[in-house]
Amino acid sequence: MRSLLLLLALSAGLTQGYVYGRCELARVLYRDYGFQRDTLGDWVCLVQWESSYNTRATNVNTNESIDYGLFMINDYYWCYSSSPYADCKVDCSALINDDIDDDVSCAVLIQSRQGFAAWYGWQNHCKGQDVESYVSDCVL
Ligand SMILES: *[C@@H]1O[C@H](CO)[C@@H](O)[C@H](O)[C@H]1NC(C)=O
Repeated sequence: MRSLLLLLALSAGLTQGYVYGRCELARVLYRDYGFQRDTLGDWVCLVQWESSYNTRATNVNTNESIDYGLFMINDYYWCYSSSPYADCKVDCSALINDDIDDDVSCAVLIQSRQGFAAWYGWQNHCKGQDVESYVSDCVL
């Protein structure tokens, strides 16, 4: 019951939120957040497959943990939730608003610890693929 209510509350949120364009996101990560040019393909590919560029995306996993936002950040380890971990020191709800500063900081922390392999979307769709094709047509 609890998870059904949670699911309903979360899916109501899915209708809103900002959806980035593919090249728009590449540009923002490159210009505003100073991401290295040669990592952009991996980042954009992972966001495409994790959240489809939607800042309000959420996903309830089978183990009942929840992934939040553009980078589908997991509440068990990274944001404040019922688990004892919140390594990004951020409210999970802040990961589904339109301000992506905290999402980016948290994603960078995750990537620095675990690499892109922390994301199944990246493992399944980007690893070993021509990720440069996700950004090669973009004006950065
Ligand atoms: C729950 O499942 C998600 C998605 O499969 C996974 O990323 C996460 O590590 C799991 N959490 C725990 C505590 O096992």
